[in-house]
Amino acid sequence: MSLIPSKVLTTEKVDDRLVFMTVEKPTNLTYKPGQFVRCAIPLVQEPKSDADFIARPYSMASHPSDDVLAFYIAKLPDGEMSPQMFNLNAGDIVYVDDTAWGMMTDMRLAKGETLFLMASGTGLASFLSFIKDGLWSRYERVIVVHSVRKNIDHVLTDRFNELARGHENAFDFVSITTREPNVSKMNGFNERLPALIESGEFEKNLNVELTPEKARVILCGNPEFVAAVKGVLKQRGFSAPRRGQMGTLVSETY
Ligand SMILES: Cc1cc2nc3c(=O)[nH]c(=O)nc-3n(C[C@H](O)[C@H](O)[C@H](O)COP(=O)(O)OP(=O)(O)OC[C@H]3O[C@@H](n4cnc5c(N)ncnc54)[C@H](O)[C@@H]3O)c2cc1C
Ligand SMILES: NC(=O)c1ccc[n+]([C@@H]2O[C@H](COP(=O)([O-])OP(=O)(O)OC[C@H]3O[C@@H](n4cnc5c(N)ncnc54)[C@H](OP(=O)(O)O)[C@@H]3O)[C@@H](O)[C@H]2O)c1
Repeated sequence: MSLIPSKVLTTEKVDDRLVFMTVEKPTNLTYKPGQFVRCAIPLVQEPKSDADFIARPYSMASHPSDDVLAFYIAKLPDGEMSPQMFNLNAGDIVYVDDTAWGMMTDMRLAKGETLFLMASGTGLASFLSFIKDGLWSRYERVIVVHSVRKNIDHVLTDRFNELARGHENAFDFVSITTREPNVSKMNGFNERLPALIESGEFEKNLNVELTPEKARVILCGNPEFVAAVKGVLKQRGFSAPRRGQMGTLVSETY
């Protein structure tokens, strides 16, 4: 069994459905920004195999060099696992894989000028890991794009701006709200991302080129969002890594 009992260290409920938590890191676990582990809760008193757990994948919001693992999790009202994750408190035990999974790493991207990190909802979690990964030694400019339904869901914007301190001239946080007017003072949009890209409004407002010649894209979030953005980017010539060849776009769906 690769699931290791880990103590929950901190939980920060940012509202009644989003939680940011840290847990002990299994000793043997190594990972890259963009990867995920399974978190699991036992269904029986003395679990002996994976079948004795309910488990779901969660992306690391921590950096591999951090001593703890961090997760950013949304509670789905009718979900089986996420309400249990949401209700964990410091001192509780959650089981965590001692192996990380996932191919959404920037090592699979060819060298480029601007890195776009595009997420919907809690897809933003792993970008906290990327942003701590010395991106500005590899890219001239980094642009995080976060699409959510309502302004209240933009809970991590300040955290990103803090982590990008010292790189203000080479960093933008773009917030998209789709179900109410956007209140951001800078780089706030009110339309779905694929439409913003297709109309040219996105590039014009940010004064940036979203082309495979200049840009690299990491895309993460709900399957419909990822498929729609990928569709628009593929039309522009972006491609995923294939058969050992570097790509211009990598993605993960939740
Ligand atoms: C690679 C990977 C990484 C992930 N990382 C994270 C993360 O960092 N944070 C996080 O909160 N979630 C993450 N998820 C989603 C997570 O694994 C669970 O699917 C989610 O917590 C719902 O589990 P549940 O048991 O509560 O819901 P379930 O009982 O499994 O599902 C309830 C319903 O909700 C749908 N659903 C599942 N996930 C979502 C979603 N995100 N948005 C809308 N509908 C959904 C299901 O299709 C189903 O219809 C990740 C998923 C994958 C595949
Ligand atoms: N956010 C909330 O206030 C809220 C509250 C309670 C429960 N929930 C539940 O939590 C789950 C996750 O909700 P969420 O709000 O985090 O995530 P979500 O529904 O995945 O929406 C996140 C963002 O992705 C956009 N999006 C979705 N499909 C798209 C597509 N095909 N093309 C482009 N953009 C697309 C959404 O735009 P659109 O708005 O245009 O779809 C929104 O801006 C859902 O099951 C929901 O029922 C959410």
